Amino acid sequence: MNVLLIGSGGREHALAWKIRKSSYLNNLYIAPGNAGTALLGTNVPIAVTDFEAMKRFSLDRDIDMIVVGPEDPLVEGVYDFFRDDEDICHIAVIGPSKKGAQLEGSKDFAKNFMIRHQIPTARFRTVTLENIMDGNAFLDALPSPYVLKADGLAAGKGVLILNDVNEAKHMLWEMLNGKFGKASDKVVIEEFMSGIECSVFVLTDGRSYKILPVAKDYKRIGEGDTGLNTGGMGAVSPVPFADEVFMEKVRTLIVEPTVNGLREERIDYKGFIFLGLIKVDGEPKVIEYNVRMGDPETEVVVPLIKSDLLDLFIGVTTETLDKKTLETDYHCAATVVMVSGGYPEDYRKGKRINGLDAVLDSIVFHAGTKLSDNGVLTAGGRVVAVTSYGSTMDEALEISYRNVGKISFEDSYFRKDIGFDLRIQQKD
Ligand code: AMP
Ligand code: GLY
Repeated sequence: MNVLLIGSGGREHALAWKIRKSSYLNNLYIAPGNAGTALLGTNVPIAVTDFEAMKRFSLDRDIDMIVVGPEDPLVEGVYDFFRDDEDICHIAVIGPSKKGAQLEGSKDFAKNFMIRHQIPTARFRTVTLENIMDGNAFLDALPSPYVLKADGLAAGKGVLILNDVNEAKHMLWEMLNGKFGKASDKVVIEEFMSGIECSVFVLTDGRSYKILPVAKDYKRIGEGDTGLNTGGMGAVSPVPFADEVFMEKVRTLIVEPTVNGLREERIDYKGFIFLGLIKVDGEPKVIEYNVRMGDPETEVVVPLIKSDLLDLFIGVTTETLDKKTLETDYHCAATVVMVSGGYPEDYRKGKRINGLDAVLDSIVFHAGTKLSDNGVLTAGGRVVAVTSYGSTMDEALEISYRNVGKISFEDSYFRKDIGFDLRIQQKD
């Protein structure tokens, strides 16, 4: 098979690494890719939402399957673009239709979907400028803290959590008046849920599904989960508190109603569902849906999959996923992300990365890198994710941290406490 993988981050490097191992693979292209993916296939300079260029390239190179990494092309309808054009409808797209992608593209759509299918989630109210008074009344009726979410995509920045009700009302007004552009024309106000979070990934062909290894990511920039939100500073898998009893609840209360709900509503969905979950008094509740794999969760989840990923994707496109087996590794995996100093605010790019070749017992997934005559340079906030296996989470982390120590670039930063909360939990 000839595969075109869309995206350029650590998630895409991890997917490329796994697809490269597939016995079905002939040629792998990555659009636009990074310095890491260039070692596994051919990078092509196509923007992730340039569907016309993807069409031309796919016809030219006889592409059989498109694997979509990030959410933007999915929310903009890349699946429908290929499905509805007779020249390219033979090319399988791994990802949901535009309608299905609304699970991530609109928080209001996702919340109403959950209500329709009795999927456990926080109480909420959707507000626009027209009914802002209802929003203020809803805030008055909720206990502190207050959760405000921009309805649309806001590059991971659209959620505010505020302690003071007057500040919450003020931010609600600011959001409805363009704080996050059009993404916050509508705002979802939610009740705050207190608990521990994890990420559950589901692969579905629209009829059956497979649940992938559970992961936990660390979103804040500072140790002890403090400071600004980032794309993700590290991840571990599996997650000790997501035990069999919890996962059975996740399966029956969340995964099955989600997959069945999509089918009942005739929403075309052949791809990944990412459940952002919180465990509240032992019960799973949905914080959010995403319609893609997580980053950096992919960098720990994908290495734990033993099965051939393209074989699973073939099961997805031919609606025979129930005939495929998902085999996973018994190991633990951990990843530590090295970022550019200043991230997630302003940071400098173009710094030379040294020591990549010195890493022998971890996998270095590139997130924001590019090749130059001068070697590999930083090209983003998140630069590399250093993934290791171990027989325990601690062992995997120890190996990753040892190898992080071998990689250097000017002003680099990483969190030294990935997994800290799980360790405390294990001791309890
Ligand atoms: P989201 O973009 O919806 O994942 O929200 C970003 C982060 O905000 C989540 O990972 C949670 O840590 C937090 N969050 C979102 N909604 C809630 C909620 N209802 N209760 C508590 N925390 C929340
Ligand atoms: N790590 C969270 C995300 O990919 O959205």
